[in-house]
Amino acid sequence: MAPPPDRLRLGYDVDENAIRFSNYFHLLRELVHLSCGWLPLAPAFEVKYALADDLHDDARAISKIRRRLYELRHPSDYPGAPSDQLGTLLDRLEEADTPESYIELAYGEAKPALLRAFRVHLEHLDPVSDEPSLRLLGQLVEQQERHIAELGPKAAGGPDGWPEDLGAMEIRLKAEPRRLRVLPPLAEPARDEFVEVTAEGDPFLARELYINDPEENHVPVEAEEQRHFFHALMDAELCAAELMARNSHEHPEMPWDFHVDMARQTWDEMRHARLHSLLMPKELDCRWGDYPVGFAYFRSVYAHDLLGRLALFNSTSEQKAMWRHSHRRKVLVDRGQEQIAQVFDYLLADEVPHVHNGTRWGTHLCGGDESVYKRRVRELRDGLDETGAPAGEPQAA
Ligand SMILES: [Fe+2]
Ligand SMILES: [Fe+2]
Repeated sequence: MAPPPDRLRLGYDVDENAIRFSNYFHLLRELVHLSCGWLPLAPAFEVKYALADDLHDDARAISKIRRRLYELRHPSDYPGAPSDQLGTLLDRLEEADTPESYIELAYGEAKPALLRAFRVHLEHLDPVSDEPSLRLLGQLVEQQERHIAELGPKAAGGPDGWPEDLGAMEIRLKAEPRRLRVLPPLAEPARDEFVEVTAEGDPFLARELYINDPEENHVPVEAEEQRHFFHALMDAELCAAELMARNSHEHPEMPWDFHVDMARQTWDEMRHARLHSLLMPKELDCRWGDYPVGFAYFRSVYAHDLLGRLALFNSTSEQKAMWRHSHRRKVLVDRGQEQIAQVFDYLLADEVPHVHNGTRWGTHLCGGDESVYKRRVRELRDGLDETGAPAGEPQAA
C-alpha cells in the first residue's frame, strides 16, 4: 500500500473538478461517436481492431466520468455543453473526410491533448479529499497512453491548436447539448486491399452450413471446408462489429447505455474476428485474404432502420447462431478437434449478451413493450429462409 500523503494539497475545488470532467466527457463522447462511424471504412484489420478496442475503453470511461460528475455535483447541469473553443476543435474532428485523416486528428492531436489534461489534473488534485478522481484518472491515463502508442503518430508532432490544458476550458451549463454530426450512410464496409470482394462472396460455402435444423445442418469437418468456413466466419464477425458500430454512430439520440452496449459488442465481434485470424494459420493452414468475401447479407440488414437491424441481426441471426455454435462444438468435440470446439464455446458465451442487446433496445424502441418488439421480430422473420437470411441472400455465421 502507498504511504498516506503527509499533507493536504487541497487542489481543485469541486466546481473546477466537475468542469474538468465535463470537458473530458465532451471530447470522449465525440471520439466514441466518430470512431464508430469511421471503423467500417478503415480497410486494415489491425486498424479496425484497435479502433474497436479503444472506442470500447472510451465508452466505459465516459460511464465512469458521468458517475464521477454525479457524485461531485448532483443535481446539476454538468456536463453541460462545450465552450465555443472546444466546440471548434470538435468540429475539426467531425470535418475529417477519410478514416486516415480522422485517425491522424484523433490519435495525433485530440487524445494527446486529453492525456495532457489528465496529467495536469493528477498533479494538482488533492489525493485524499479527491481520491476517487485520482483512482479514475490513473486508469484513464493508462488507457490513453496505450491508444496513442497503437494508432498515434510515430514521431512527436508540432503545435496542433489544442490547448495545453483542455480540462480548464469553460463549460456552458445552460446551453443545449452539442449535436453530433452523422456521416453519410455506408455503401459497403472496407477490407484490407489484399482481400477480394465479390458480389457472391466465397462460392465454396454450402447453405447446409447455416441451416438451423439438426437433421440438415452440416458441421464443417474436412480441412478444406473448415478453411473456407472460418474465413467466412471472420468476415461475418467484421460485418457484425461494423453493424453495431454504425448502430451507435447513426443514432446519437439513443440513451447512453445503448452506446455502451454497442461499443462492447463491437469489440466482442472484433475479438471474434481476431480469434479466427489466429486460428486459421495455427490450426487450418490458411489466412485472412485467401478467399473472396461478399457483403450481400450485411447490406440486407444494414438497409433496415435500427429496430429492423436489432430484430434481424441480434434477435434472429445471433439467436440462431447460438444453436449452431453449440451444435458445431458438440460435433467437433466428438471428432477430437478440441481446440476448434473451444472457439465455438466462447462465441456461444458472448452471443448471450448480444441477443439480449436486441431485446433490451428493441423493446426500448417499441415504447418499453417487449411483446410489441417480439411481434415485430416475428414479422421480419417471415421474410427469411431456413438459414435465417433474406430469401436468396447467403449469410455466413
Ligand atoms: Fe461474434
Ligand atoms: Fe455476436
